[in-house]
Amino acid sequence: KDLYGPGRRNSAGVELGHEASLHALIAEIEAARSSGLVAATLIDGAPQPGAERPVLSPSNGATAVGRVREADEATADRAVDAAQRGFRDWERAPAAKRSAALEKAADLLEARRGLLLGLLQTEAGKTLDDAVAELREAVDFLRYYAAQARDLFGEGEVLPGPTGEDNRLLHRGRGVFLCISPWNFPLAIFLGQVSAALAAGNAVVAKPAEQTPLIAHEAVRMLHEAGVPGSALHLVTGDGRVGARLVAHRRIAGVAFTGSTEVARRINQTLAAKDGPIVPLIAETGGINAMIVDATALPEQVSDDVVMSAFRSAGQRCSALRLLCVQEDVADKMIDMIVGASRELKLGDPRDLSVQVGPVIDAEAKQRLEQHIAKLKGSARVHLAAEAPATGYFVGPHVFELKRQGDLAEEVFGPVLHVVRWKAGELGQVLDAIEASGYGLTLGVHSRIDGTIAEVVSRLDVGNCYVNRNMIGAVVGTQPFGGSGLSGTGPKAGGPNYLKRFAVEQTVTINT
Ligand code: NAD
Ligand code: ALA
Repeated sequence: KDLYGPGRRNSAGVELGHEASLHALIAEIEAARSSGLVAATLIDGAPQPGAERPVLSPSNGATAVGRVREADEATADRAVDAAQRGFRDWERAPAAKRSAALEKAADLLEARRGLLLGLLQTEAGKTLDDAVAELREAVDFLRYYAAQARDLFGEGEVLPGPTGEDNRLLHRGRGVFLCISPWNFPLAIFLGQVSAALAAGNAVVAKPAEQTPLIAHEAVRMLHEAGVPGSALHLVTGDGRVGARLVAHRRIAGVAFTGSTEVARRINQTLAAKDGPIVPLIAETGGINAMIVDATALPEQVSDDVVMSAFRSAGQRCSALRLLCVQEDVADKMIDMIVGASRELKLGDPRDLSVQVGPVIDAEAKQRLEQHIAKLKGSARVHLAAEAPATGYFVGPHVFELKRQGDLAEEVFGPVLHVVRWKAGELGQVLDAIEASGYGLTLGVHSRIDGTIAEVVSRLDVGNCYVNRNMIGAVVGTQPFGGSGLSGTGPKAGGPNYLKRFAVEQTVTINT
């Protein structure tokens, strides 16, 4: 079966190396730039009142990109009740109709790319490269799930049985799916969750991160415009307290959560303690992602891949490299090359196209990183401590060599790379320590020995393994993405089995 849809292709994106198309794109972004945007909770398509605050750009912590009206608890409850009322109509609509709306939304996203790219830069602090890649991923999710749903949620699968009996296996929506997303992919992950839940026939209540409500609001309005009824898709703005209130609502039939392990655990506890039906949780969380480099690896390639994996997006990717484990024989050379290349990275407001490392998301993130850096300055060997601009939420790339691998016990979400050395014959211990961390999201391996590659990959329970390349930027339909253990409950976003996790199965037997 062609689960990708006949002729479906991933979005072509934008060729940024081509001067004319780059200028055209920048002109579109400038034309769409607006500080008048207001993100509000949307119930049945209607904006709701709420306490209003500015949404500030992380590049300077001062410019208002727009404003958000945040929901109180009663408003959050009303959104779930409205979604419950809208569920049956959406679930009974033909799968092809639901999919057509998602595909139209993908077209709208591409048509309005100036606005969306501008928001990714100003609200989320993304470089143009990152913004373009994120828009592309969002479009891909919409088209990929739409194409799959046509097949999976159509007439159902005919099963073998005796003469005179028609047996079918159907997939159907569960009810109201709550989608809670993080700020680091405020368009792609937000829409990935929402489009999967909608494609599977659920009504959706979407709660974006409090740092990035504007782009979520614009995306929901595009979905409505494309034909997803307001009664099937509701937006609730607000912080973790509003998220917790939504999780506790008795009408929630499933939760898709992407964010920190700590919050996933709290959501799991709330769901487990609730009366009523057992509610499934799809959790996609963080990682202490390691890269193993042995003495046969190609130094230039390792350096490029490490710098990209650790510092692209200011290290604010769940997939980013956190722990480089390099064989002693080549460690000095590799570290020198990595530090040299990292020192050249340009930090600043990502609207400057020469900038390669933008800001971290907010003052709290910056403070957390600075505390971690200060601690390591006292206990680890400092290879790089790059300066950062004083205004805005910037943290320069840092490279620390740890005394022990176990010194990195928690995810550090920013541009900080930790390095450990291992001696020939000690690889097993390195892998033991990675396993002992309990995380399992991404893994990098650089080696020219097939046996080493096979041993490392088969030994560790890690969701996405990248061999002799960088370890970020999973592509929809090509590198289904998601981890296990402390990194998540296992479903692979952008993979062939994801939609089933949003659905219930029903067997219908008809005596003909
Ligand atoms: P976070 O856990 O702080 O917040 C994520 C979302 O949960 C936000 O919308 C927030 O408002 C909401 N929330 C907070 N407390 C809540 C509660 N008690 N109940 C319900 N909702 C609550 O994470 P973040 O800082 O926004 O994002 C960064 C984290 O996300 C990192 O750990 C990163 O690794 C992870 N992440 C994972 C993936 C993946 O696919 N595995 C992708 C991106 C980000
Ligand atoms: N899916 C994103 C990546 O692979 C998080 O970098």
